[in-house]
Amino acid sequence: MKILITGGAGFIASHVVDRTIQAGHEGVVVDDLSSGRRDHVHPDAGFYRIAIEDPGLREVFEQERPDVVNHHAAQASVSVSVKDPMLDARINVLGSVNLFEQCARFGVKKIIAISSGGCVYGDVDTFPISEQESFKSTSPYGTSKIAMEYYLQYYRKHYGIGVTVLRYANVYGPRQNPYGEAGVVAIFCKAILEGRAPTIFAAQEVGDEGCVRDYVYVGDVAQANFQALERGDGEAFNIGTGVATTVEGLYRTLSGVAGFKQEPQYGSLRPGDILKNLLIATKAGTGLGWTPTTTLEKGLRETFAYFQEHPEGGR
Ligand SMILES: NC(=O)c1ccc[n+]([C@@H]2O[C@H](COP(=O)([O-])OP(=O)(O)OC[C@H]3O[C@@H](n4cnc5c(N)ncnc54)[C@H](O)[C@@H]3O)[C@@H](O)[C@H]2O)c1
Repeated sequence: MKILITGGAGFIASHVVDRTIQAGHEGVVVDDLSSGRRDHVHPDAGFYRIAIEDPGLREVFEQERPDVVNHHAAQASVSVSVKDPMLDARINVLGSVNLFEQCARFGVKKIIAISSGGCVYGDVDTFPISEQESFKSTSPYGTSKIAMEYYLQYYRKHYGIGVTVLRYANVYGPRQNPYGEAGVVAIFCKAILEGRAPTIFAAQEVGDEGCVRDYVYVGDVAQANFQALERGDGEAFNIGTGVATTVEGLYRTLSGVAGFKQEPQYGSLRPGDILKNLLIATKAGTGLGWTPTTTLEKGLRETFAYFQEHPEGGR
């Protein structure tokens, strides 16, 4: 199969590209390098530097005629979406629609698209969250992902394109950007390697242990994308572990792996920080044949080893 992967120079989709090539498929990346890196892209993959909202995307499809499109490219920051909802909508809504239009025009058989298991459900009272939960986005980013999901229903119904949506929990692993405000594992790895005690953002509501998250390893996430090539049509799946980990717990495990002895610092929660996120991903077990296999300790070991070897990022 020829698979066109948007955002393939980014953290998660670069692993999807690796998995695609490893399986013997042909991979073509579309990425504008706004946050991704050219050296994240597998050397055997094709590469087009172009934004998904660019009308020139049509020529890429004309040239490549992919069988499957895997859509990861996005404005992926909640805080950017709050500061600039127009930018967020231009990329995540209009860019996605431009992409789906090319899929319809050039006979793409299947679209696998990435949504957010943290942000489309918004403020929830009951955990873990299943796919049955209604949409209650509290940010422009969550709202643009919901819009993308609804557009996909249209493209499936109107053009008969196979569609699978994957809603990710908190993904971590090699190649995650340690310079942003999100991506706590990468940020902690960088701090530890520089001999600095990282800061845990905590609040009275969550106790001293910090927010609760569902951390899923990027290798497992790449495998979920692979399983979705042939399965899960017309469905959305949570991609998480169902294991609740506090930020303090994360730090304890990571500092143990790294042999780092300093105590963390503590700070106040930042505006917009979600207190708790925990997904139940059993539907992906039955619908995609996918279950995560990497324990937090093993994943953190791999991730820390990566940052030791690649302090500046890259492959
Ligand atoms: N990291 C997580 O924990 C997480 C959780 C839920 C959902 N997601 C989603 O997963 C996807 C990948 O996220 P990531 O963490 O790897 O982020 P990332 O920033 O590393 O990757 C995004 C990639 O998309 C590219 N891109 C951005 N805007 C583009 C545009 N207009 N046209 C073409 N390319 C563009 C960037 O250059 C980058 O390579 C995103 O859709 C994100 O919303 C991520």
